Amino acid sequence: MRVTAACLTVDMDHAEVLAQIEQLEEERDAELIGDPGRVALRRGTAQVVRSGGGVGILAPTPEGVHGLDVVAGEGDYRAVIDEAIATIPQSEPIRLWVRDGEPGDTRFTQERRLLIMGRSLPGPQLVVPKGIEIRAFEPTSDVYEWLGVNNDAFEGHPENGAWERSDLEARMSAPWFDPDGLRMAWEGDVLAGSCWVKQYPQGVGEIHVVGVATSHQGRGLGKMLVLEGMRWMSEHGDDEVILYTEADNTAVGLYERLGFEVQSTLESMIYRVS
Ligand SMILES: CC(C)(COP(=O)(O)OP(=O)(O)OC[C@H]1O[C@@H](n2cnc3c(N)ncnc32)[C@H](O)[C@@H]1OP(=O)(O)O)[C@@H](O)C(=O)NCCC(=O)NCCS
Repeated sequence: MRVTAACLTVDMDHAEVLAQIEQLEEERDAELIGDPGRVALRRGTAQVVRSGGGVGILAPTPEGVHGLDVVAGEGDYRAVIDEAIATIPQSEPIRLWVRDGEPGDTRFTQERRLLIMGRSLPGPQLVVPKGIEIRAFEPTSDVYEWLGVNNDAFEGHPENGAWERSDLEARMSAPWFDPDGLRMAWEGDVLAGSCWVKQYPQGVGEIHVVGVATSHQGRGLGKMLVLEGMRWMSEHGDDEVILYTEADNTAVGLYERLGFEVQSTLESMIYRVS
């Protein structure tokens, strides 16, 4: 178990919980909670449960499932999950996120498997096709174009789909957000897709969200956007790139061909009282 979260005390508000978790993450050079939990803490929509020195972050999702990240030492892990189960009405399912080294919970059923893939930078040469222009995200004018393409590309996706303006704005208010790192590919005045880069402190960049409009898929733009994200990261001092992907996403082949390898996994398990 990687986390001994004894410093997480009972009286902290959401911002303090997030600050403590992010400090632990920096000390351990590991991500302890996922983006939905982080955003829910920042927006104040998370439910925080506690047991001993551990916490559980329950984040709402558009599909009505509560995503649960547990930051706890081995002795508190199960008790934090007990608290979460006791807190959420029985009719509402809970999705537990299990990172490498965490025990999971046999009361939950395995659901999805995510891969954390990575490679060193710089990456292969970027070639931008004729007719495509890559520009930085413009916060005053690009919000609805970006949401339209994102919700089209990720239709039905439990975390990345069905975003509203407030979902995007919650990420835009995160300390790491840099509009220049949200690379937008335009064909004339039509947004074809984008690659959103998140930078971590230790020279690591993440391909945070990459999506291509369904009307523009299969033309090499997804590959181009990943390469553009990698180019941007290299230019901004990163020497390693990571990304999260569903293990069964067809994009895994694309990432492998670009030299990405699996570094670790993240599983989701579902608790549902039928
Ligand atoms: C994944 C995604 C970004 C790829 O974009 P794209 O523009 O369609 O992909 P490209 O045309 O650049 O193709 C890249 C490679 O993937 C392959 N590929 C693309 N779609 C494929 C499919 N449905 N099945 C199999 N292979 C496919 C292409 O043949 C190409 O192979 P190559 O590297 O050997 O040339 C796009 O499909 C998308 O937005 N998907 C929904 C959102 C998503 O899942 N994002 C990734 C989250 S990790």
